[in-house]
Amino acid sequence: MDSELSLEKKIRELGLDIYSSIREVPPALDTRRWMGKIMEWSMKDKDFKTRLFRFIDVLPSLKTDELIVRLLHEYFTDVDTPKIIRGAIERISRQGFLPKMTATLVRKSVESLARQFIAGKDPEDALNSLAALGKENLAFSIDLLGETVVSDKEARNYQERYLDLVGFLRGEIGESVDTGSGHDISLKISSFYSQLDPVDWFGSVKQTKEALRPILRKAKELCISVTFDMEHYYYKDLTIAVFQSLLEENEFEALPLSGIALQAYLKDTKEDLLRLIGWAKEKSRRVTVRLVKGAYWDYEVVINRQKGWPVPVFLNKEETDRNFEELTKILLENTRFVSPAIATHNIRSISYALALADFLSLPKEAFEFQMLYGMAEPLREALQRIRCTVRVYAPVGGLIPGMAYLVRRLLENTSNESFLRRSFVEKSPFEELIQAPQTPQKAEVGRSLSGAFRNEPDLDFSLSKNREKMADALKDMRNEFNKRYPLFISGGEILTDGETVSLNPSAPHEVIGRVSFGQKKEAEEAIEGATKACKEWRRTDPKERAEYLLRTAAKMRQKKFELAALEIYEVGKTWKDADADVSEAIDYLEFYSREMIRLGKPKILGDYPGEENEYVYNPRGIGVVISPWNFPLAISTGMVSAGIVAGNCVIFKPSGLSPVTGYKLVEIFSLCGLPHGVLQFLPGSGEEVGEYLVSHPKIDFIAFTGSRDVGLRIIRVAGETRKGQRSVKKIIAEMGGKNAIIIDETADLDEAVKGVIESALGYQGQKCSACSRVIVVGDIIKVFLNRLKGAAESIQIGPPEEPGTFMGPVVDKEALKKTKGYVEIGKNEGKEVLIRAVQEEGYFLGPAIFADAPPESRIAQEEIFGPVLAVMKAKDIEEALEIANMTSYSLSGGLFSRTPSVIKKVKDEFRVGNLYINRKITGALVGRQPFGGFGMSGVGSKAGGPDYLLQFMNPVCISENTLRRGFAPLE
Ligand code: FDA
Repeated sequence: MDSELSLEKKIRELGLDIYSSIREVPPALDTRRWMGKIMEWSMKDKDFKTRLFRFIDVLPSLKTDELIVRLLHEYFTDVDTPKIIRGAIERISRQGFLPKMTATLVRKSVESLARQFIAGKDPEDALNSLAALGKENLAFSIDLLGETVVSDKEARNYQERYLDLVGFLRGEIGESVDTGSGHDISLKISSFYSQLDPVDWFGSVKQTKEALRPILRKAKELCISVTFDMEHYYYKDLTIAVFQSLLEENEFEALPLSGIALQAYLKDTKEDLLRLIGWAKEKSRRVTVRLVKGAYWDYEVVINRQKGWPVPVFLNKEETDRNFEELTKILLENTRFVSPAIATHNIRSISYALALADFLSLPKEAFEFQMLYGMAEPLREALQRIRCTVRVYAPVGGLIPGMAYLVRRLLENTSNESFLRRSFVEKSPFEELIQAPQTPQKAEVGRSLSGAFRNEPDLDFSLSKNREKMADALKDMRNEFNKRYPLFISGGEILTDGETVSLNPSAPHEVIGRVSFGQKKEAEEAIEGATKACKEWRRTDPKERAEYLLRTAAKMRQKKFELAALEIYEVGKTWKDADADVSEAIDYLEFYSREMIRLGKPKILGDYPGEENEYVYNPRGIGVVISPWNFPLAISTGMVSAGIVAGNCVIFKPSGLSPVTGYKLVEIFSLCGLPHGVLQFLPGSGEEVGEYLVSHPKIDFIAFTGSRDVGLRIIRVAGETRKGQRSVKKIIAEMGGKNAIIIDETADLDEAVKGVIESALGYQGQKCSACSRVIVVGDIIKVFLNRLKGAAESIQIGPPEEPGTFMGPVVDKEALKKTKGYVEIGKNEGKEVLIRAVQEEGYFLGPAIFADAPPESRIAQEEIFGPVLAVMKAKDIEEALEIANMTSYSLSGGLFSRTPSVIKKVKDEFRVGNLYINRKITGALVGRQPFGGFGMSGVGSKAGGPDYLLQFMNPVCISENTLRRGFAPLE
């Protein structure tokens, strides 16, 4: 206790000394100057801050002056912008300022803002800034800013830039700048391997190490140390693994003291640090630990909440600060094994480290402080005065790659929680700034779930336990190959002579299973059984029906790995896609069960004495579900569960290409006690069983997802009335699309390229929402195509059971033949950008990209359902929309743009059922992005939406006269 008090006393003393040196110094973004003033406004007005940062973000990619002026207006001249800024912009236009002058002024302002935090556009340009640091006796670490690396080529370029940097540091900088503390470079592993993803742990470690080895070799040779930056949480374990495993290699034993950044805002970091110290001890491998608080706080909170994963960061700033102190203590107590680099601009955090070092009698050389270029200069001066080593982290790079970094720094300088803001801008009193971080009084209250629907989180494959379980499930599933599966009718299992043989599209000699094949006789039995079961089932309380779905969801959750493994083998999905399909299936069960509880309660209409009007939904009767192979569990589960929870009995005919997954769905329902006859399992041929069911007079509705030709035929056949038929059949049909993404000249190309690759090539282009047309507006087409080509060349194609695979096989021989046919057509209709050859056994086919195909050409009009992409050019957004709307389909579409008026126009005029802005166009989530189109894309309401269940029921209104001899029930 005493020592705690005296430590606090020491912290205050040291803090006060530093504080007095910064009191009169203006902040990095000096509020007496124009840009500082704007930042000051942004701190007061959240909406303005969002616009400002978005404008700064888009600015470097705007190629023309006119565009800059236009966006300036669009971002700032409506009502919510502070008057003074709005006035200035309006004046500029009133006084007829030439766009060139305005654009130059804006560009210069943002450039000078960037200059405060970025040392130069390249190492040569940064030379003066670095020399100035050297003169002040400051050590530095140079970081090369880069765009998101989407291809191997971009990763190689980045590697070369780092190799040049290392040479430059020893050469020119070495001659002109000598700080005595050694030069250091900082790097981020995600820039060295375009396919980096912990799902492919070994591949990612191997490839990243390969790319980094030449840099480390040269650094060793030239006596330069290397520090690994820490990025998003998703990459954390991978970053540590790459770092340790490289340093364990003999050739890097003599690498100058190198290090890794660890983030105090992460709840895991204490464990990571202790493990790292243990490793350093065991291997006698001294390393630097750069302790930072963490720069991606907002991102981690948003992304992890979006995914339904635990939020890995502390949610209270003081907890981060407290953890920073605890980690500082661990570091300073272990200086025999690690070299602490305390990276912060916070006086309290700095003073804590200084006071503790004093208590531990550590010499000043035992640790160093690190700060970011352009931030808190007075602090570093104060530290130098007391003979501490200070290293400056100096980023170098152009404006476009520097934007993400600049926005992070601006966020940091303007955030409510920021120490820099509180100390330099708000001039908070010393007492507040030096206070020990407090543990929050109240535990963070999580959002109440109270039974509300939440999407099932996908598996987080950055966790080793999930990777291991998936690998085990794949191994186990092989023992299930070649089994026989029966039909399931009215509780009885029927093995038939005829079978559908389900093959592994990656290795068609492997039989996934043999599933019995129903014919008219079995179809008739299924209808009869369902008719009997329906009497009881339709009377079952909606809540009870919903509970069957919830039990089925729970069972699926238990079998998640097993079901995903089956899909990987049966239809060629990758780990992530297969897992997402199982999650979506669970979502449908959870969502429709809640919807039924909502709709199952009678609604009383109006409020009239002596009369009661009740509005209820009754089941339609018996339905047929005909489902596709591309989402073999999710779409089947959605259609089946909607049908049965609404009180109908359902005959389920799975696709002949995914019958084993279909069987598993029925088996799980059965394990959960669903009464016999409510769900009949009847695989069979479309022509025979499908047609028989669809035309049968006892069938009341048909839920179908599949091709347009089959969908239209079902609509025609079902439209005929047959003898004994008592209802007009209701059709719910989802029939595909020819989906387009529009990209304009203000798009973030990093995001656009990634979005197109995922949307067009994910699951080999076999999603109904897949992108098969890209329409590029303006002059960016060349750059876009170059990056897209590089990205498509870099993705991994192979058996999907390999975790690194991005593209597996198409589903069968037919699909392969058909898609290859379209590749040939594309060669005639467009200009070949890429046709990637693959040499695997199985139904593999590389991506094919064509440019300049006329909008009315076949590859731009027909649904291909394979990895074939047509890229077209439009002169403006009007023409882009015209091309986009030129097909008969209206399913999904996308836009990448940072121009508000373009976003609005596209929202108004793009005729699609699902529109996605600045993101991929696949992966709709139940309840969040209800899915489905119109036009030739289908009839019916959106799956996973609030109207979907209504299609499976008939609304009924019951009006009762409650007046008896003039007496009405009292309220
Ligand atoms: P301050 O005391 O104001 O702390 C701000 C930090 O608190 C935020 O950055 C965030 O971490 C945390 N925080 C804010 N709101 C919070 C809340 N509501 N709940 C919990 N915590 C909250 N970052 C990184 O992620 N990887 C890296 O590799 C590096 N590298 C690096 C090198 C060097 C030399 C420096 C100086 C900094 C970094 N950083 C970094 C950036 C670093 O993580 C951090 O963002 C800034 O240094 C700001 O922290 P301070 O202690 O200076 O300020």
